[in-house]
Amino acid sequence: MRRGGQVTLRAAQADDGAAVRGMVEGLSRESRYFRFLTGGRVADGIVEGLVSAGADGVALVVTAADADGDAEAVIANGQFVVTSRGTAEFAVLVADAWQGQGLGRRLIARLLQLAQAAGVRCMRGDVLSENRRMLAILRGLGFSCRRNPEDSYLHEATLALGVAAANLATRMPADWATAR
Ligand SMILES: CC(C)(COP(=O)(O)OP(=O)(O)OC[C@H]1O[C@@H](n2cnc3c(N)ncnc32)[C@H](O)[C@@H]1OP(=O)(O)O)[C@@H](O)C(=O)NCCC(=O)NCCS
Repeated sequence: MRRGGQVTLRAAQADDGAAVRGMVEGLSRESRYFRFLTGGRVADGIVEGLVSAGADGVALVVTAADADGDAEAVIANGQFVVTSRGTAEFAVLVADAWQGQGLGRRLIARLLQLAQAAGVRCMRGDVLSENRRMLAILRGLGFSCRRNPEDSYLHEATLALGVAAANLATRMPADWATAR
């Protein structure tokens, strides 16, 4: 990580549910709102969805040793779900204490790489218009981000993965591919 330390990026498993719930419970109000559009408790079904992305999708977690160093805490999560032929919907979440160290960008880049390998042709996501950080990251990765004409609070971000394949390597730091 930029501030030192090592984390692990891996496929999510069903028994990560409790650790993911722990991360969600610890989120700031803003992060919770940006990811789940609520400042309140996130429903169990939604948390379960963070670790399972259906047959064609992918769910990832990033883990780090907890404060005592004797257990792994989940510090980030990302997934894409295939919604229709060739199109997948994605979302990511980084715990507040770990934001701003390049993790979110790497997570999205890894999702793009896995989606492409799975034959997904278009990646899309809805982002709150006030979520400047997420929009800046996505634009930097080549996404087109347009205000939703029917809902000015939302931007729709889309990326054709053929374009991603050509440009991703030049848009990422040299070590991005090591985040497996
Ligand atoms: C959005 C999110 C996933 C980004 O992950 P992250 O690890 O914090 O972001 P990164 O460190 O990879 O990237 C930060 C980049 O955003 C840019 N950035 C940070 N704050 C910004 C702001 N207010 N406006 C514009 N750009 C900003 C930085 O310049 C940085 O770029 P750099 O690495 O070139 O310096 C994370 O902050 C998060 O989980 N937020 C809450 C939930 C959320 O918004 N999820 C997305 C829902 S669609």
